[in-house]
Amino acid sequence: MTITDDSYVLITGGAGYIGSHTALTLIEAGRKVIILDSLVNSSVEAVRRVEKLSQTKIPFFNLDIRDTEGLKAMIEQYPNISAILHFAGLKAVGESTQIPLDYYHANLTGTINLVDVFTKSKKAQNKSPINFVFSSSATVYGDVTRFPNGVMIPIPEHCPTDPINPYGRTKLFIEHLLRDHTQSPQNTNWNVAILRYFNPIGAHPSGLIGEDPLGIPNNLLPYLAQVATGRREKLGVFGNDYASRDGTPIRDYIHVLDLARGHLAALERLEKITPDTTADTGFCREWNLGTGEGSTVIEMVDAFSAAVGRDLPYEIAPRRAGDVLDLTAKADRANEELGWKTQFDVQKACEDLWTWTKQNPQGYNDSEAN
Ligand code: NAD
Ligand code: WQD
Repeated sequence: MTITDDSYVLITGGAGYIGSHTALTLIEAGRKVIILDSLVNSSVEAVRRVEKLSQTKIPFFNLDIRDTEGLKAMIEQYPNISAILHFAGLKAVGESTQIPLDYYHANLTGTINLVDVFTKSKKAQNKSPINFVFSSSATVYGDVTRFPNGVMIPIPEHCPTDPINPYGRTKLFIEHLLRDHTQSPQNTNWNVAILRYFNPIGAHPSGLIGEDPLGIPNNLLPYLAQVATGRREKLGVFGNDYASRDGTPIRDYIHVLDLARGHLAALERLEKITPDTTADTGFCREWNLGTGEGSTVIEMVDAFSAAVGRDLPYEIAPRRAGDVLDLTAKADRANEELGWKTQFDVQKACEDLWTWTKQNPQGYNDSEAN
């Protein structure tokens, strides 16, 4: 499709961790972005910081993706949205087992509403093309050690999906609904990229934007960062009796800026699809976004300790329910088809996380510090 100078990329969830970094990457690549976010898990300060880093004013809508009238009013104001990067949603695995309906409602109902409103609006615009990039997750693969002899590690995109928690199921159902949507002859103007992220970490090297979890962090690096600042006493390492090189589980940690560039690459790939009036389906394809390299928990503790400049305290704790031995991406498809490859290693991600943490020990509540 042709990208006109006045076309916008809508970023849902753009005040959040990955969305804010991706907004900056897109603006730096010359794109015009609009951010939509309900702020349920983020602060508008993140948008201000992206504006500061990019020296750009970003249209911001404080909206829930389930708000049909709100979305319509936004489209009326900005009719020229040619692409959507869809990050908005709830993402805490443990919480999703406690309040599954909230997760289905926010993630699934929200996405249905978003797709429905844009489908109708694009039909009204004579089916002008819409490129849609969805934030999926490696969590859709479930426990890949269920396959014998490690045949699915590293994990290729053709690995059968079988998520083991409600959060993961919302992601998988959204993948199905997007695929079904593009398969209809009525929606040949839809091009969808499903991006399955592995473990995003790190921050922008300026220390101005980063991850700002509410409450006690669930994830490894945000928890370690709070150990480093003294907000938490020590890290609990959830099990050291796994069949790995040091007994702790292996994950594919990817710098958030590499992930952000992956979105730009996916968008550019979708934009290369020439509208075909004779086609009877739209386009939909899934890509893993990972480095292809796995690190253990202890290796990550060592990498972050090196960034901080001292050994961070930890103790071995019982295994966490639902954890699996190894989630490492096979990244070849994205490397080959998107022309995208990660540039940063885990050490650089740890250094950037530490810069962000030192400058913002209370997250975006420290807005005066920046
Ligand atoms: P985040 O919570 O920082 O960002 C999500 C944003 O969506 C937040 O700003 C939140 O306020 C907003 N939001 C939530 N529900 C909304 C709604 N109904 N309407 C409008 N806005 C809403 O999370 P993140 O880490 O930046 O993740 C972004 C996306 O990537 C999510 O969809 C998440 O599931 C997915 N993902 C994240 C990870 C990860 O480890 N961070 C891994 C794989 C996939
Ligand atoms: C990493 C490793 C823990 C905390 C989660 C979601 C997944 C995706 C990414 C959204 C594991 C260990 C952790 C701690 C620890 N998100 N750990 N002590 O579980 O791989 O993936 O985030 O889609 O869906 O499940 O990431 O950072 O929680 O854990 O020992 O205090 O660190 O056991 O081995 P996970 P994580």
